[in-house]
Amino acid sequence: MTTQNTWTKSLWKSKQALQQPEWPVHELREATELLSHLPPLVAAGEIRELKAHLAKAAKGEAFLLQGGDCSEEFLRCTAPNIKSTLKVLLQMAAILTYAGGKPVIKVGRIAGQYAKPRSSPTEMINGVELPSYRGDMCNSQEANLAARQADPQRMLKGYYLSAATLNLLRAFAQGGFSSLHNVHKWNQEFVKNSPVGGSYEQGVARQIERTLNFMENIGIHTDMPQIKEVEFFTSHEALFLDYEESLAREDSEDEVRGRWYGCSGHMLWIGDRTRQLDGAHIEFLRGVQNPLGMKVGPAHEISNILEVIRLLNPNNEEGRMTLITRFGAGKVEQYLPPLIRAVKGAGLPVLWCCDPMHGNIRKALSGCKTRSFEDILAELKGFFAICGSEGAVPGGVHFELTGRDEKTGDVTECTGGAAGLSDEHLLRNYCTACDPRLNAEQSLEMAFKIAEMIKND
Ligand code: PEP
Ligand code: CO
Repeated sequence: MTTQNTWTKSLWKSKQALQQPEWPVHELREATELLSHLPPLVAAGEIRELKAHLAKAAKGEAFLLQGGDCSEEFLRCTAPNIKSTLKVLLQMAAILTYAGGKPVIKVGRIAGQYAKPRSSPTEMINGVELPSYRGDMCNSQEANLAARQADPQRMLKGYYLSAATLNLLRAFAQGGFSSLHNVHKWNQEFVKNSPVGGSYEQGVARQIERTLNFMENIGIHTDMPQIKEVEFFTSHEALFLDYEESLAREDSEDEVRGRWYGCSGHMLWIGDRTRQLDGAHIEFLRGVQNPLGMKVGPAHEISNILEVIRLLNPNNEEGRMTLITRFGAGKVEQYLPPLIRAVKGAGLPVLWCCDPMHGNIRKALSGCKTRSFEDILAELKGFFAICGSEGAVPGGVHFELTGRDEKTGDVTECTGGAAGLSDEHLLRNYCTACDPRLNAEQSLEMAFKIAEMIKND
């Protein structure tokens, strides 16, 4: 309690902040001053709502589906692109809802996922050393020195594009686009046209059809909000602390006075590289009420993770902490069981979520960064099996994925899946600004695989 009382939104500045751009001081002050007067992107009430949903997922009464681009790009902020990624997530959610028999909480890596941690501050391009690209909210991917300077104006642009993205997401979530009828129709088309359309997939599609018909037949109007609308939430890595601080707001409607919310997105997560107990990211995030994700990769110390969780969630609030594990296929068996045992033993309530992407990066023959469908699936299988044997609830999954691009179609960034993409095919449509993403077809195929793991019949 005492630590909470002494928190201020700028206190993180007294700690070491890793992975921050070298912002020019004057321009940074101008940009953050403007941002701190602009409206919040999300409302505190929505944040509380998501936290309540996640509390249910931690108990096994709901399931979290989180996904989107590794790194959003300013130039890809268009209606067709936003729509196509939303579409994939909704299709996956419908499949998982039917299989698991519980509500699926839909959280995009979207409307603010513009800042990237990098393994090195500089990179060599054609023999020239340049500052690394740190996401569109910092600098440009273009390979020249001027383009790679950190520009605080980009935080403002990121804010406005996040607002534009959210505006469209809200319209699609409520305007009928996301109705179960539509989502079902898309899934039927997918199952019909894809080599994945096996008996299980067809079975799920048929089951949704029957349910909708049944409801119509007994006079339940399927144009009611539960069928016609969806709740969709946003999330991103809370990496650039000047931006996050500028969007922190005290909620005047809150039943408890003096509580702060990170209003840049509903759920904020802490990356695997910035979760130091005495670091600036933990210092900032412990003071906002949002549900928090924390990535945990192989390089961790269990006692340290427990301390960080206690610091972020001193009152053991349900729904506050999601541990997003990203160990890699073949490693999950080594790292997950002791972590689950320790967290359970310490009595800390967390939602267990598997990110099967970040522990499975490999270099393809062409030099591209890629991931194999088989490795992603293997880590997921390990995660579900281990949660089962350790008595933990496997409460969610976290993906890097993207919908069909309006100009270039399905990306070819991850190998494998029914279409049989191999290393040689990657250059056909390799577009990512950072890590390789599953394309729409691979994502749906993955959802059917997960459906088999969680099916409740
Ligand atoms: C990410 O989610 O894009 C990311 C950088 O993850 P991690 O912190 O787990 O490496
Ligand atoms: Co990534």
